[in-house]
Amino acid sequence: MSADKGRKKIPRHVAIIMDGNGRWAAQRKLHRLEGHHKGSETVEEVVECCRDLGVEELTLYAFSQENWARPSDEIEGLMALLKSFVFQKREKLIKNGIRLLTIGQTDRLPEGVLKELTRSIYETRQCSTMTLTLALSYSSRSEIIDAVNQVLRNAMANEEFSKMVNEDEFDRLLFTEGRTPPDLLIRTSGEHRISNFLLWQMAYTELYFTETLWPDFSRDDFMKAINEYQRRERRFGKTTEQIRATA
Ligand code: FPP
Repeated sequence: MSADKGRKKIPRHVAIIMDGNGRWAAQRKLHRLEGHHKGSETVEEVVECCRDLGVEELTLYAFSQENWARPSDEIEGLMALLKSFVFQKREKLIKNGIRLLTIGQTDRLPEGVLKELTRSIYETRQCSTMTLTLALSYSSRSEIIDAVNQVLRNAMANEEFSKMVNEDEFDRLLFTEGRTPPDLLIRTSGEHRISNFLLWQMAYTELYFTETLWPDFSRDDFMKAINEYQRRERRFGKTTEQIRATA
């Protein structure tokens, strides 16, 4: 088997909805923030796992726009955790060739968090082994509406501008700017929802749900998701025969 054929089975882009931190904490009679802290350890382990496996892109749903409605002490704790995580892991990201990016309305984040993120994004800009994208203050519906409004502004500002856009042009107006869509979405904690995450980008993504709470999600759990992905046949609307003929 050629290297390229073997490579096909590893998802190029994995997206994860990291859910269940609060329940993990509640089961132990701990504050919800303890769950988020343990969850940040899982983040580090999963990033390592993806890098070891040759996954090129990992996108983590770390904070949605809807999460701003949570109690203020939880938001403050999460922001403090994010800031220290980004600061503490900067050197490790650089050493491992991992580029950091964000998607979402990050201008809503506290200044200190934004400063650490901006510095890591800049200092990892040449890293090319893997890309880690944190979705922060992210809402897929807002992202799509912003893109639609951009199309309308372009059309109104320029007589010559084509008033119709195709899928590729629209894709480039999103936070993800024409990057590879996720091959595999993992959601932890037994919830079977997409929760306003990458709605446009996940048109053909394979969905994988596990009961495991995010703080308990291990390398073995990740490999189970990869194994399940490897058993799936991705047809993109074609027939099995057509897919096999071109494999
Ligand atoms: C959802 O669990 C999780 C979040 C809203 C925050 C995710 C944050 C982390 C995993 C840690 C910090 C992240 C980084 C990138 C360092 P939940 O709180 O909704 O859990 P529940 O559904 O059990 O209440």
